[in-house]
Amino acid sequence: MSIRYAFNSDPKPQTRKIIVDESAATASPGRRNLTISNLENTGVCNPPDPSNFRVEDCTIPKIEDGEVLVETVYLSMDPAQRCQMNEETGVDYIEPLRLGETVHGLGGMGKIIQSKCETLNVGDIVVNSELGWPWQRICVRKASELTKGNLRKGETCVISSAAGAVGMLAGQICKLLEAGRVIGITSTPEKCEYLLTSNLGFDSAIAYKTEDVSTKLKEMAPEGVDLYFDNVGGDISDTVIKQMNEGGDVILCGAISTYNTDVGYPPPISEELQQIIRQKSINRNRFLVLDYTTEFPEALRTLEAWFRDGKLKCEVTMRYGLENAGSAFVEMMEGKNIGKMLVEVTSPRKG
Ligand SMILES: NC(=O)c1ccc[n+]([C@@H]2O[C@H](COP(=O)([O-])OP(=O)(O)OC[C@H]3O[C@@H](n4cnc5c(N)ncnc54)[C@H](OP(=O)(O)O)[C@@H]3O)[C@@H](O)[C@H]2O)c1
Repeated sequence: MSIRYAFNSDPKPQTRKIIVDESAATASPGRRNLTISNLENTGVCNPPDPSNFRVEDCTIPKIEDGEVLVETVYLSMDPAQRCQMNEETGVDYIEPLRLGETVHGLGGMGKIIQSKCETLNVGDIVVNSELGWPWQRICVRKASELTKGNLRKGETCVISSAAGAVGMLAGQICKLLEAGRVIGITSTPEKCEYLLTSNLGFDSAIAYKTEDVSTKLKEMAPEGVDLYFDNVGGDISDTVIKQMNEGGDVILCGAISTYNTDVGYPPPISEELQQIIRQKSINRNRFLVLDYTTEFPEALRTLEAWFRDGKLKCEVTMRYGLENAGSAFVEMMEGKNIGKMLVEVTSPRKG
């Protein structure tokens, strides 16, 4: 079984009808298709609830030339999906979910069970290169679909939502790029303990639910913060920015603390903070992973090499069964994950 990443660098794969395994989708007894639709929007200022989603049987779709039929193995649970549950997402790169239609998730991984294109074969494992993966067990994918930060050696970096998918990698990468000190901020002492004891390279960690972030940060970074990788926005970010050094960098990656509110993205910052940012010449730039798609293949090679060499760890919190995607998403929003929250829809060891 080979792994193929359907990246943009291969925008026009051949679509000759040469690899067709018509039996694959229908012959397997008990292969039942399921889909999850968005039943109702949660309301801008309410947290999401599993009852917002409905699990339904659906037919196994047919594919056209240039398409593949994919059995979903993993679904990615992403905070940005919360913005899709409002009538306006507040950003131009993701659309709101359509009521009653299959949830248009952001990422996934699956195994090809039928192919009508030359470049992808039955049995290949694929991930999406462009945003989008439906919350559906067996789905059609088009074959063609398939850092910013100025870190200088020795600097002090702070990562918020440090025990999550992005934060965990950001912290480790800072260390691999020879940051002087990496400080993680996460919710609980247990998550802090995990950051410090699991060889992720974090030097210290702050539990924002039980500790005073400002006091702890002063203790851990008495010389100030040079780089802040901001995943959360809100009070935590205001506190960190107030302790940043002249010429520091804020990488504005996300603002999950505001996603269940009517605050837009990027969240506005107070006049006091704007003044600090101006006076200290702090660079505060938005980071959007989609701006770097051309660099994905190279980045993936680097990450893969680090991973193989044991220099990079990828923690996953797994939930099982498409039926549980809604509750897994809610759990991720509530911080019940360590590392990447995934839903295993089909066992990767199957068939
Ligand atoms: N710009 C981009 O291209 C891009 C791409 C992917 C993700 N993002 C953003 O990056 C951030 C992290 O995404 P992820 O996929 O890695 O998710 P994640 O960190 O794995 O999971 C979300 C985490 O957010 C934390 N959280 C929830 N409510 C919070 C609150 N009120 N205040 C502080 N932390 C809170 C929880 O951790 P705790 O237990 O620590 O609270 C939870 O585990 C999100 O803001 C997301 O939108 C941006």
